[in-house]
Amino acid sequence: MHACLRRGSTPKTGRLKFLDIIEKITIHQVDITDYVSVIKLFTLIKPNRVYNLAAQSFVQDSFENPTVTSRINFDAVINMLEAIKIFGIETKFYQASTSEMFGHVLSDPQDENTPFNPMSPYAVSKCCAHYLVKNYRVAYGMECVSGILFNHESELRGREFVTRKITSGIARIANGDTETIKLGNCDAKRDWGYAPDYVDAMQSIVENGKNTDYVVATNVVSSVRDFFILSAKIAGFQPEIEGAGLNEKCVDTLSGKILYEVDEKFYRPSDVAYLKGNNKKIFEDVGWSPKTNLPQMCEKMVAFDMDLLSGSLQFDYTI
Ligand code: GDD
Repeated sequence: MHACLRRGSTPKTGRLKFLDIIEKITIHQVDITDYVSVIKLFTLIKPNRVYNLAAQSFVQDSFENPTVTSRINFDAVINMLEAIKIFGIETKFYQASTSEMFGHVLSDPQDENTPFNPMSPYAVSKCCAHYLVKNYRVAYGMECVSGILFNHESELRGREFVTRKITSGIARIANGDTETIKLGNCDAKRDWGYAPDYVDAMQSIVENGKNTDYVVATNVVSSVRDFFILSAKIAGFQPEIEGAGLNEKCVDTLSGKILYEVDEKFYRPSDVAYLKGNNKKIFEDVGWSPKTNLPQMCEKMVAFDMDLLSGSLQFDYTI
């Protein structure tokens, strides 16, 4: 197995080491936005499968850095598809598409036939890449598919994303820290699944031989506030919401501690209010359905963050 790593002075391989798979992977330091580098790599290793999970994946950041976002999320996909096309390599290509493409949703729930209505430079770049993959499939008969994955979280999620920001913050406060968690739009609703389940789905999408796109979702929707309350209760707090809008906060009625407050800084110029998937197609075609529900995932994430703080687990997510 081969993997691409962005060139940099400190390679970020902490997750691969934690999962104990780094020895199984040959790592190539390649800039996928550079066509020549991609061509060289693909002709060297002649991959039979390519999973394009590389992205500038933080929606909020894409408003600040739209050009970088577009280069990584769209231009790099052209490079890879062209490399496969020009050299006629027998390669199945998987593209990580996203529920963010549905944006301000035009129908509910969202499935493979729902029109896109993207609301961020990130989502626009992903729509472009999604259509490109479809075009190479139709125009050249290439085996390339997209998985339209709804939010998928885990213990290894970066702390800039709201679920892990919440579970790590709650663990920190449970451990005696007094700094309140600052959140943005707590009304936002997402269809949250567990990343390991979604990796199984990605593999079935590539291997089922149908050469078509799939939505991957749990079909269950919860708000950021719901996720917070669930996680806080798991950690032993008794959370209660007070106020609304910018004055909203969550108080632990046992200790009187403020667990979170709303901070405008975390609002987005345009946010996606609601996403709820429909996994009917992938269930009917390959029998995939999520194994882990939201409370089970929250339990795992809170427990992991508690263990990190107690020192019984070692994992540096920054490397
Ligand atoms: N990150 C963050 N931080 N989000 C917050 C916060 C906060 O403090 N407070 C509220 N939110 C809201 C955001 O406004 C958004 O509506 C929602 O929580 C989820 O935000 P993220 O966790 O950053 O994820 P996302 O939905 O924008 O995007 C993730 O999921 C997509 C779908 O799979 C990313 O992983 C994308 O790369 C992915 O495509």
